[in-house]
Amino acid sequence: MSQSDWVEIDYTTLSFPEPPADRPFVAINMVMSADGRTVVDGTERGLGSKLDQRLMRELRVHFDVVMNGGATFRASGTSARLNDPDLERWRVERGMTPAPIAAVLTRSGDLPPERRFFTDHSFYAVIYLSSAAPGAVRRELESRGRPVIVVPEEDAAEAALTHLRKGLVARRVLVEGGAMLNGELIRQGLVDEFFLTLAPRIAGGDTAYPAVLWPGAPTASGIRQLKLLHAKTAETGEVFLRYSVERSGA
Ligand SMILES: NC(=O)c1ccc[n+]([C@@H]2O[C@H](COP(=O)([O-])OP(=O)(O)OC[C@H]3O[C@@H](n4cnc5c(N)ncnc54)[C@H](OP(=O)(O)O)[C@@H]3O)[C@@H](O)[C@H]2O)c1
Repeated sequence: MSQSDWVEIDYTTLSFPEPPADRPFVAINMVMSADGRTVVDGTERGLGSKLDQRLMRELRVHFDVVMNGGATFRASGTSARLNDPDLERWRVERGMTPAPIAAVLTRSGDLPPERRFFTDHSFYAVIYLSSAAPGAVRRELESRGRPVIVVPEEDAAEAALTHLRKGLVARRVLVEGGAMLNGELIRQGLVDEFFLTLAPRIAGGDTAYPAVLWPGAPTASGIRQLKLLHAKTAETGEVFLRYSVERSGA
């Protein structure tokens, strides 16, 4: 591709549909190597360029909440910070808080206390803990100063989204992985859009680490259809993809 094929990408200019009545609008954002890996050396950090990281922060400006699963919290931490005064100002000028709320969903409650989620109070944060967790786990988490919301084990992810919408008045939730949380939400029809950065890299290895995971072998009847909303190429060799997720199967 020649340089003239590349366009300046600015995710602050994106617009989004209104949320459904009963839950927030939900988008997933992931970076993946060309061979389908989303984890290198235990985290996503070796996969995306500085541009990808900038677009990740620009995407966050549109969202009230950034959400992770417990494993991503342990691997990478869960923070909703923008690390950019211009982006914080962008939100404040539109009547939003400087940073989104950070949210984590966990069953084990195994959330390392040294993470910024617990130590940095420049952003609001909330823990969604499955009702399957023992009371002692809940009490220990509560003692760390972040609110703990107990959600029913049978539909923990959906209940967390409902609480975000009704309890915290969140209109848009950005799920930043990992694959298990992504899969659970997609399978339950709770995801509206999927942002995927395709990195010009082969990660290799003998472990799959896909962007979306749910139990069992893939089946034709389980396929979820996507509709391409944009595909932007960059000088980094990355392709930035935005899809909407169809409500039912293929
Ligand atoms: N490439 C990328 O863009 C990207 C983005 C994000 C993450 N990652 C990587 O992905 C890896 C982690 O992904 P993962 O698929 O193993 O895990 P994950 O989706 O981050 O987290 C799974 C965990 O979420 C919690 N959870 C999910 N559903 C739940 C439910 N219904 N009720 C209660 N808790 C629930 C549980 O936490 P507990 O285990 O605490 O009970 C579960 O073990 C990390 O290495 C991370 O660095 C990559």
